Amino acid sequence: MAPMRIAVTGASGLIGSALTASLADDGHEVVALVRRAPHGPGEARWDPEKGTVEADALAGCEAVVHLAGAPVAERRWTERRKKVLWDSRVKGTATIAKAMAALDPKPRVLVAGSAIGFYGETGDRAVDEDSPAGKGFLADLVQAWEAAADPAREAGIRTVHARTGLVVSPRGGAWGALFPFFRAGLGGRLGSGRQFWSFIALEDEIAALRFALDHDELSGPVNLTAPEPRTNKEVTEAMGRVLHRPTVLPVPGFALRAVLGEFAGDVTGSQRVRPKRLLDAGFAFAHPDIDGAIKAALPPPNRV
Ligand SMILES: NC(=O)c1ccc[n+]([C@@H]2O[C@H](COP(=O)([O-])OP(=O)(O)OC[C@H]3O[C@@H](n4cnc5c(N)ncnc54)[C@H](OP(=O)(O)O)[C@@H]3O)[C@@H](O)[C@H]2O)c1
Repeated sequence: MAPMRIAVTGASGLIGSALTASLADDGHEVVALVRRAPHGPGEARWDPEKGTVEADALAGCEAVVHLAGAPVAERRWTERRKKVLWDSRVKGTATIAKAMAALDPKPRVLVAGSAIGFYGETGDRAVDEDSPAGKGFLADLVQAWEAAADPAREAGIRTVHARTGLVVSPRGGAWGALFPFFRAGLGGRLGSGRQFWSFIALEDEIAALRFALDHDELSGPVNLTAPEPRTNKEVTEAMGRVLHRPTVLPVPGFALRAVLGEFAGDVTGSQRVRPKRLLDAGFAFAHPDIDGAIKAALPPPNRV
């Protein structure tokens, strides 16, 4: 990619912080859109609640990567929390899409965060981007979240929905909630262990977002998941191998629900998602296998 000016929302998050570091390392000018007072020229303010973006924040940007959203796996899903999860994504995306559509000249591309929650529970059935939406709160949310980008799409801006799987990292997301169990030697399969987990290494997530920025042939939904989803039993065994911990004890459902609330359904449920569009476009995964993805998530001394 030739150096460009790129705006990023959710830049302080797990994915956003790794992405902005990667872009800045390669000489891109990154403008972090923040919800508080900006700290310097590399930041500009937006307010997803009020639907505003600071004047000129997006001026001169060729691309926007929109990753903001209230954390899904952090708290129990009360009705109030569901509204926060919903509004932060749907209103936030609409705000960014409208602001981009109003610019002249317009940015070339919007890469918008999305999730494999779109497909709902898939059991053993493999799904890809051509598969229909599933059922449940997350599936409904993802559809509304993606539709909220319509103003950008209708303005002719290439729009990619980065349907992300479970990012393998001790620092956030559902995986982040599970790492402490495994580190303490208390990790184990969840439920039957036969459910599929569509994971992705953080490094591949960042590379895939950058690939989407750079590849004009990609638009619409793009699954960001490793090529071969693994069952929870296989993931559990890999966690034990890489962390050198026993994994004999199944993690009880009540403990999971205590930590993850309704979201526990997402890790005890099965999602077998294939990254068809990325593979068709020639994307090469650095960590297609689960052991490699877990090793890559650990600080260097722990890497084998
Ligand atoms: N990590 C995963 O495994 C995973 C899986 C599937 C999908 N995703 C999606 O990918 C996106 C980025 O994920 P992530 O793991 O980097 O998330 P994250 O670490 O939770 O960061 C999200 C960022 O969104 C902003 N944010 C937090 N609460 C918000 C609110 N109420 N309204 C608006 N913005 C808010 C914050 O940035 P500021 O404070 O800087 O505004 C935060 O750093 C999210 O939309 C997430 O749903 C992640």
